[in-house]
Amino acid sequence: MSQEATLSFDDKTYKFPIFEGTEKERAIDFTKLRSETGLISYDEGFGNTGSCQSKITFIDGEKGILRYGGISIEELAEKSNFLESSYLVMYGKLPTQTELDLFSDRVAENASIDERMRSMFSNYPSKSHPMAILSSMMSSLACYSPELATNDRAADLEGFDEAAAYAISKVRTIAAAAYRASNGLPMIYPKPGVGYCDNFLHMMFSEPYNDFEPIPEVAKALNLMLLLHADHEQNCSTSTVRMVGSGGANLFASVSAGVGALWGPSHGGANMAVIQMLEEIHASGDDGSKFIEDAKSGKSGKRLMGFGHRVYKNFDPRAKIIGSVCEDLLNKMGVSDPCLDIARKLEQSALADDYFVQRKLYPNVDFYSGIVMRAIGIPLNMFTVMFAIGRMPGWLANWKEVASNPKGRISRPRQVYQGATQYAYTPIEERA
Ligand code: ACO
Repeated sequence: MSQEATLSFDDKTYKFPIFEGTEKERAIDFTKLRSETGLISYDEGFGNTGSCQSKITFIDGEKGILRYGGISIEELAEKSNFLESSYLVMYGKLPTQTELDLFSDRVAENASIDERMRSMFSNYPSKSHPMAILSSMMSSLACYSPELATNDRAADLEGFDEAAAYAISKVRTIAAAAYRASNGLPMIYPKPGVGYCDNFLHMMFSEPYNDFEPIPEVAKALNLMLLLHADHEQNCSTSTVRMVGSGGANLFASVSAGVGALWGPSHGGANMAVIQMLEEIHASGDDGSKFIEDAKSGKSGKRLMGFGHRVYKNFDPRAKIIGSVCEDLLNKMGVSDPCLDIARKLEQSALADDYFVQRKLYPNVDFYSGIVMRAIGIPLNMFTVMFAIGRMPGWLANWKEVASNPKGRISRPRQVYQGATQYAYTPIEERA
């Protein structure tokens, strides 16, 4: 197979190397394109652009494959848990028992937040969006532990083990505190000796002197959902984290930017948009058929939320896993959700509809994760926050990869300018 690609224009020919990844993906190395040809490549939305070489996660969107550090998501969903998979994502290998214990202990030890930080939550207006609080608070961690956020690459990398466990622990506490603050509820301290997800549920739903005690399947489903979100290669928020990190910014500043990027409805906000869509369909008395027609016409500006993916063009393996867990959980909890019936109908109709088939639009992970979260009692505006908790190890791993690359350059794309060409400044009184 050719190891070079040829580009010809203006009677000149240029050669660019082709290289291969470990899974045989091939790429043309265009790093010298501009210096050799004067051209830049144009790829709005980066659909064909490899922004980095990474060892963290592999996705084959055509075949519906997702692997963290070489291990399939199906196997991890069956045999692992969120903390162990977080370690795998961040360190590229499964931990030994000693390594896992050290990591889990670090996560457990860092569950509390500084009292001065805790008092900040009460200063947000009631009904503040918890994603806004989360982003600010993740960035603020740099103020409370400045030794982990020096913006000196070598020092920040040296503190990575501590900082990563700290961030994974704190994001959960901050998320629960953000929910309670935005609902005017008293904050609940973490419980020592309690697992990651149980502790989160405790901080979310316990009341003073009245501990929340869910059935074990609830924490299990939550754990699985976080595991399924732990990393997803160069998505919008992870690319944002890498971009911020590429300038040398510390880990907290970088993941805080990731939270902002995740908030949008085309990305992490989709799980929330799915439930809003299902509720809207339910309230209108439609069984989903009319909504599908609207989404197809494009005129209404509606899309079938939870369907389609930039990378998966066959199926999203995470959707398959969470879809079946969703059914089991609802049965065990004895929850009957009309939105689930509508979701099933939408899924069946869309999978049999030429519009969706031709465009390769399949349910993505958000299609069912919203229903799981609703059954657990997570309020709608917390859905994207849950995604952020899950994605934290992926962001941290990607920050580390950027920071550890001695040849890494600051991310600085080019553009094709389409604005006004030069004209003279006119004094204000002469302007029309
Ligand atoms: N409903 C109806 N039509 C759709 C949908 C949808 N959900 N998604 C894409 N299409 C159509 C587009 O209108 C377009 O049609 P056209 O070729 O006739 O113009 C075609 O499919 C291609 O769509 P693009 O927007 O170019 O696809 P892109 O890869 O840019 O977008 C995205 C992917 C953003 C996920 C899109 O499918 C979407 O908006 N889905 C709904 C939101 C969603 O579920 N987001 C979650 C993504 S997963 C995640 O972040 C965890």
